[in-house]
Amino acid sequence: MNIDILLGLQWGDEGKGKIVDAISPGYDIIARFQGGPNAGHSLEFNNVKHVLHLIPSGIFHADKLNIIGNGVVIDPAVFKKEIETLGLPLIELQKRLVVSTRANLILPGHRILDAAFENHMGGSKIGSTLKGIGPAYTDKVARKGLRAGEILNSDFKKLYNDRLKDHLTILKNYDFKFKLSDYEAGWFEGIEMLKKFRIMDTEYLINELTGAGKKMLAEGAQGTMLDVDFGSYPFVTSSNTISAGACTGLGISPKKIGEVFGIFKAYCTRVGSGPFPTELNDQTGSLLREMGHEFGSTTGRPRRCGWLDLPALKYAIMINGVTQLFMTKSDVMSGFEYIKICTAYRSGGKEMNEILFNELSPEPVYTILPGWNENISGLREYNKLPENLKNYIKLIEDQTGIPITMVSVGPDRKETIFR
Ligand code: GDP
Ligand code: IMO
Ligand code: MG
Repeated sequence: MNIDILLGLQWGDEGKGKIVDAISPGYDIIARFQGGPNAGHSLEFNNVKHVLHLIPSGIFHADKLNIIGNGVVIDPAVFKKEIETLGLPLIELQKRLVVSTRANLILPGHRILDAAFENHMGGSKIGSTLKGIGPAYTDKVARKGLRAGEILNSDFKKLYNDRLKDHLTILKNYDFKFKLSDYEAGWFEGIEMLKKFRIMDTEYLINELTGAGKKMLAEGAQGTMLDVDFGSYPFVTSSNTISAGACTGLGISPKKIGEVFGIFKAYCTRVGSGPFPTELNDQTGSLLREMGHEFGSTTGRPRRCGWLDLPALKYAIMINGVTQLFMTKSDVMSGFEYIKICTAYRSGGKEMNEILFNELSPEPVYTILPGWNENISGLREYNKLPENLKNYIKLIEDQTGIPITMVSVGPDRKETIFR
């Protein structure tokens, strides 16, 4: 069982990129299994911050193989831009990165459709990142997708034009103005960039390497509450962000999964629309946003902020089979006189702990704990953390029954405490 999974337990942006980078030295392979350039995974070392959208967060480690798995949707234009901004020689990246033949492509038409659909929804829009994710997965499931393995075919341009024709036909029903050339700009250049990389049946590669004893970390994107089945539907993304998604998104058996690392922020954030029971529309929410620099890594939108939601966390732990919890951004919570934590919901006069299908906005029931004032970013030993933070951690462990084995105290690779 030498495959571990790291995934988000909230609404995304839990700090997956930072932690994957920090624990990459313990693995041989780092693989993305779902999502696409809607993701923005930040990591920091040597005072430089990098934001990755499609490329796995192990890319800065020289001896690691990074895989973009079959479950990912790839926008070639974003791929090219990302390759060019990593600051690493192409020849080096060609060694470190492999792409699945079966990964579906995001076509220019998908991005236009995403924008047209959202525009049409008006006030009830999802708040999509407008990267074409929904339409690309729609075509995949409708068996109309174009896949990375097809870009080498001599009739690729024809396949592309057929898809484009379909997309333009749908767009006629929407009052949405667009300039195709704006969306196509860079896309075909991106295809040429993709061709420079090994496009392989990565399910064989993964099973052969892990079968021979290599260790792999599967890197989730988005978060459990954005999962298409278990998130706050319809305000979700279009893929399975949960641990099961790693099996379908990489071609691995559930029997091979070892640890499931569930990552969560010490508080909650959400970008885009949808229910958020512990949201703070007040001074405290603004303070969390300011202290935590809570602005989207992909779209720059301000993130909605709120207290930690334990019923939602427990739900995510259950769905994913989380074996260890990693808590990030605890440093951001320093300076609050008290900290609230949602330990139950109240709905129809009754207290409950479940995320119910038809009750997405229950009233939170809070437990109040004393805060801490110390700046903890410089700390590297668990025992030195403020007592009140340790009490906060203990309450979460007691309530979830899962150990918090890592506490992140800053954005840098080094600002990480393992217990
Ligand atoms: P991801 O999508 O889960 O990879 O998370 P993002 O990168 O979108 O958002 C997390 C943000 O918090 C990034 O700006 C990180 O650099 C930053 N970050 C990660 N861990 C910590 C931490 O423990 N403390 C602080 N202050 N920032 C962190
Ligand atoms: P990472 O991997 C936070 C949100 C969008 C929107 C909804 C659907 O960085 O954690 P989509 O573009 O997928 O159609 O948008 O999901 N969303 C994210 N929120 N972090 C992400 O990724 C997200 N990816 C999508 O804001 O509400
Ligand atoms: Mg992010």
